[in-house]
Amino acid sequence: MVRVLFVCLGNICRSPMAEAVFRHLLIKEGLDGKIEVDSAGTGDWHVGEPPHKGTQKKLDEYTIDYSSIRARQLKQSDLNHFHYVIAMDEKNLKDISIIAGKNPTAYIARLMDFVEDETIVDVPDPYFTGNFDLTYELVKEGCVQLLNFIRMREKV
Ligand code: 4NP
Repeated sequence: MVRVLFVCLGNICRSPMAEAVFRHLLIKEGLDGKIEVDSAGTGDWHVGEPPHKGTQKKLDEYTIDYSSIRARQLKQSDLNHFHYVIAMDEKNLKDISIIAGKNPTAYIARLMDFVEDETIVDVPDPYFTGNFDLTYELVKEGCVQLLNFIRMREKV
């Protein structure tokens, strides 16, 4: 089983959206028995909460299930348990390296590293921007490209 973890700050807007979108793709491609997905936040403010209303609204629009998703905080062992740990922005990436300690086994990257447009580096945080439409577009494209990358690398 290949394990993928999406990480953002609060684990209520971007990373749960990515988790839901990626799982939806896995089911569509018949890969849900081979690749599993989860999400976590570097912060602990929203632990136990369902996704933000703005994230719920976008997922409902595309009939993407998020019923099982609850916020949790990233822990050091995640960096060895998961094979791919995917950050939403530069700050998440820095915080992940701090939590990871010395020799994490996970492949750590930003979601936007997988999209062609090199001018887009971060998924902007809709908790502050209010723009869940842009977040969804970037997350969707990132997830499609990340899945292509993992399929090639893992030969699944
Ligand atoms: P997220 O957005 O990292 O995409 O889940 C945020 C959610 C909550 C907070 C910050 C960002 N907060 O400060 O509570």
